[in-house]
Amino acid sequence: MRQWLVSHLVSAPLGCLEPGCKSDVWVDLLDWWSVASPNDDLSWDRPAARLPVRPELAAARPYGAPQPPVAVPLNVNENPYSPPTQVVRAISKQIEQAATQLNRYPDRDFTQLRQALAAYLAKESQATGLAADNIWAANGSNEVMLHIFQAFGGPGRTALSFDPTYSMYPEYARNTYTAWATGDRRPDFSIDPSAGIGQIKQTGASLVLLASPNNPTGTAVPLSLVDQMCAESAGQALIVVDEAYAEFRPPGMPSALSLLGRHNNLVVTRTMSKAFALAGARLGYAAGSAELIGYLRTVRLPYHLSTLTQVAASAALAQADLMLARVAELRQSRDQLRATLLGLGLACPDSAANFLLFGHFESADLVWRDLLDQGVLVRQVGPPGYLRVSVGSPDQNRRFVQALTKAIDKMPGALALEPPQEGEIRS
Ligand SMILES: Cc1ncc(COP(=O)(O)O)c(C=O)c1O
Repeated sequence: MRQWLVSHLVSAPLGCLEPGCKSDVWVDLLDWWSVASPNDDLSWDRPAARLPVRPELAAARPYGAPQPPVAVPLNVNENPYSPPTQVVRAISKQIEQAATQLNRYPDRDFTQLRQALAAYLAKESQATGLAADNIWAANGSNEVMLHIFQAFGGPGRTALSFDPTYSMYPEYARNTYTAWATGDRRPDFSIDPSAGIGQIKQTGASLVLLASPNNPTGTAVPLSLVDQMCAESAGQALIVVDEAYAEFRPPGMPSALSLLGRHNNLVVTRTMSKAFALAGARLGYAAGSAELIGYLRTVRLPYHLSTLTQVAASAALAQADLMLARVAELRQSRDQLRATLLGLGLACPDSAANFLLFGHFESADLVWRDLLDQGVLVRQVGPPGYLRVSVGSPDQNRRFVQALTKAIDKMPGALALEPPQEGEIRS
């Protein structure tokens, strides 16, 4: 495998990987390739457990998409644009001020930040009646979700979602000893309301996760379904609508936040990692009833959100319009990119997010590797035969399409024109 990599990538346009590049970068990439390519045996070369680790962790690998130094990174749905200079300055100024107080623990209730998040949601989604008490935040919506599992999942309880969906969900379940169940989607990746509600009842789930727009399909969940699920499972389940990509939804499409007043078993999670271009700061948040937020506060660590995170997020929120200035452009690029992929004869569901799922390939793995050879990193995730690409800058999108066209041309049979069948759409 290493030899293959060397012979294939020596002349590949991999950004900093010029032939004269530092050898330890090569070693890193070679190591990465040999352990983290998507087809690896998950047990890799870990020694037999000698520590009293939980048995289900003994062969598990840490979660995460590879982060090799490629020229066109389109694999983790980041915003391709850096925060605007004005916001960078504001963040730096706030951090400098806050640094003088770093001998003190952070404000563990971060009320100002929660107020600012409530005000942002009121503006972005016309959500009414939200105050600081209705908002929770943590280090990315990943940690918010962990708090939700800690408070509403746990031993003897079940969490349910509908495959294919965000691949972290089963990991939260494993980490909190919550049983994991998956329901089905139709071939167009939508959820049949009566089947979905039936699965909630049948599994007795206490947590139901609905990503909308859904990762990796990009498809949005209709609010009527959320409404119905909340009503039908009141007293049994908390319905969690994960709106990590909500700002990319088509203008006019309502957010599940608008249902909060109707259902106290609903919580909506959001993040500043995607549209807000602040993935590196790690700030995710949730909106729900004050009672529900109270339970999330109960399970948090004493000071989980650092002072630096709090001030960086607050400074960015204060300039929300600037931070979100490229969202309309990214939406437009997404739609153009989708039209191009359809034009190549590919299947590509309509996306309300900043990424597209595309296929259906005879071997998604070969296409993924060929793209990587050309310096373009996408994600191999979702149903068999599919890949997912984040929407990048116009130049990155152009390079992706160029590389993909080459990959398809090179591999007769790369494209399987048959659409996926029912039962084939599990991730
Ligand atoms: C559906 C979904 N939810 C949550 C997250 C986590 O985002 P954060 O960076 O806020 O932890 C992601 C990240 O890719 C995601 O795709």
